[in-house]
Amino acid sequence: MGELRNLISMKDLDRKQIDHILDVSSKMEDVAIKRSKDLESKIMAVLFFEPSTRTRLSFESAMLRLGGSVLGFAEATTSSAGGKGETLADTIRTVERYADIIVIRHPLDGSARVAAEFSSIPVINAGSGSEEHPTQALLDLYSIKKFKGSIDGLSISLCGDLKYGRTVHSLGMALTNYNVSIKLAAPQMLRMKPAVIEDMRKAGAEVIEVDSVEEAVKDVDVIYMTRIQKERFPDPREYDKVVGRFSITADDAPLMRDDAIVLHPLPRVDELSADLDGLPQARYFDQVYNGVILRMAILKMILG
Ligand code: NCD
Repeated sequence: MGELRNLISMKDLDRKQIDHILDVSSKMEDVAIKRSKDLESKIMAVLFFEPSTRTRLSFESAMLRLGGSVLGFAEATTSSAGGKGETLADTIRTVERYADIIVIRHPLDGSARVAAEFSSIPVINAGSGSEEHPTQALLDLYSIKKFKGSIDGLSISLCGDLKYGRTVHSLGMALTNYNVSIKLAAPQMLRMKPAVIEDMRKAGAEVIEVDSVEEAVKDVDVIYMTRIQKERFPDPREYDKVVGRFSITADDAPLMRDDAIVLHPLPRVDELSADLDGLPQARYFDQVYNGVILRMAILKMILG
């Protein structure tokens, strides 16, 4: 496979490259525990213009486990971009002089691609608007493979906010590289945009749409739930119409296959009720750790 330099969109990766990333990730399971000094001389800058817990901290944990160092900001308001109106281009031109790689999260679609164009060092997209979140999609694939043994042959429900959710946009595209059937389950208002479904079908995926939680959880191997992306609604009254209307509770568990798994990128609000947490199908907190493993693989592949 060609060298990995930037990681901006799942559309930039083919199956061979994805499988290679998943293989390198498996090898990181041991390294994550023992730690290494492979990236001892490297510095990672994290530029987070939007809130994050898992993505930023798992990137940092991944870099520290590989012996590297970390700097950055976790809030736009504390940077010159937020507080003083500096352009993204100037922020990148500055940070590239301080670090060896940039991990960026930004509220605008296309932001990571723009950052990469201005950057002389590699850029990783840690979430660009409602458009994409490729490292999340890769850790989701890694989780599916780890928990279910393989990805091919599975049926997968992508549920919740399919309109504004960037994780499902990236995961939907990523899954088209495998032989899977995809069920899109969302309230009418939050259906995946027709153009995105079209892209998935063109890429060869079998896609159906349903609009109830019952349909979402039935007859599938993987239930991938997402949070309604309140912060992306242009009109808060629209959010009020859907909040609390699409959640999985323990009452839905009898509809699930015994060996199904429930995943979620987290954070959850009320779309996965806490009474699910003890069920064998609930794997979303195990999924969190895979974020460290997968991101170690990405950092190692780009910087190692
Ligand atoms: C997601 C995100 O930021 O898109 N979170 C994450 O990275 N794990 C999902 C969300 O915020 O709902």
